[in-house]
Amino acid sequence: MKKEKEFEYYEKIRNWSFNEFEIRQERLTNWNMYEELNKIATKDSKILDLGTGGGEKLLKYFPDCKKIVGTDFSPLMIETANKNLLLSGRKNTSFKVMDNLAMDEPENYYNIVVARNTVTDPVQIYKCLKKGGYLLIHGVDKYDCLALKMKFKRGQGMDDVKPISIVDYENVLNAGFKDVELIPIHVREFYKNKEIFKNFLKKVPIINEFDSSKEIEDDILDSYIEDNTHNGEIIMLRRYYGISAKK
Ligand SMILES: C[S@@+](CC[C@H](N)C(=O)[O-])C[C@H]1O[C@@H](n2cnc3c(N)ncnc32)[C@H](O)[C@@H]1O
Repeated sequence: MKKEKEFEYYEKIRNWSFNEFEIRQERLTNWNMYEELNKIATKDSKILDLGTGGGEKLLKYFPDCKKIVGTDFSPLMIETANKNLLLSGRKNTSFKVMDNLAMDEPENYYNIVVARNTVTDPVQIYKCLKKGGYLLIHGVDKYDCLALKMKFKRGQGMDDVKPISIVDYENVLNAGFKDVELIPIHVREFYKNKEIFKNFLKKVPIINEFDSSKEIEDDILDSYIEDNTHNGEIIMLRRYYGISAKK
């Protein structure tokens, strides 16, 4: 049921860009998945990007190399990604529909697999990587936007007994990867005003998960804004995690 709602949600937001919210960000920690990717990739690398969405991040941040494949379970997202690919003029890149939990990729084939803010099955990823190949994950943790979620008494991952970062970390270790590292990522986000902040919260799954029919209550939001405004900007603390691992 959750997967169906998530699928519907992503099909709906396929043409959607974060730029409209003009979010200012300050990194409090210095691990960045794309910087890591660019350090380990060579011109001969074959890279798979799982849950690529509209491919915007792939097209902007992935290095030029032998082959890049971006996949997503939403056919409409892949349609958007193909349009973005044409506009970008990038070479050696293709997109296709694939469920991360039912991967259809050759064994011992890729040098690097990347998965940003999407579900993964490390056992299936392990199979499609070459020996010595890398896995890079970026995810959203249980404590992401915690102060806001506590105000609303609901939100993504809030009731998880074990944070998803730990679940992922254990799954990567259990799949047989070595040199596995779990890295906390903290980012401060600044929003210019309530209207922008509320529109952002209506579109992302932070408070209402994948149920876009639910409201963002003004009185609760106002109370958060009152407690978290500095120099005219609304602050939200993001808590992500990175995982790097080697086959
Ligand atoms: C938050 S977006 C992240 C997109 C992109 N990786 C980025 O970082 O900008 C999550 C993406 O994962 C995809 N997704 C979610 N569950 C999936 C699954 N089981 N298999 C493949 N893609 C999935 C969604 O369709 C969506 O495009």
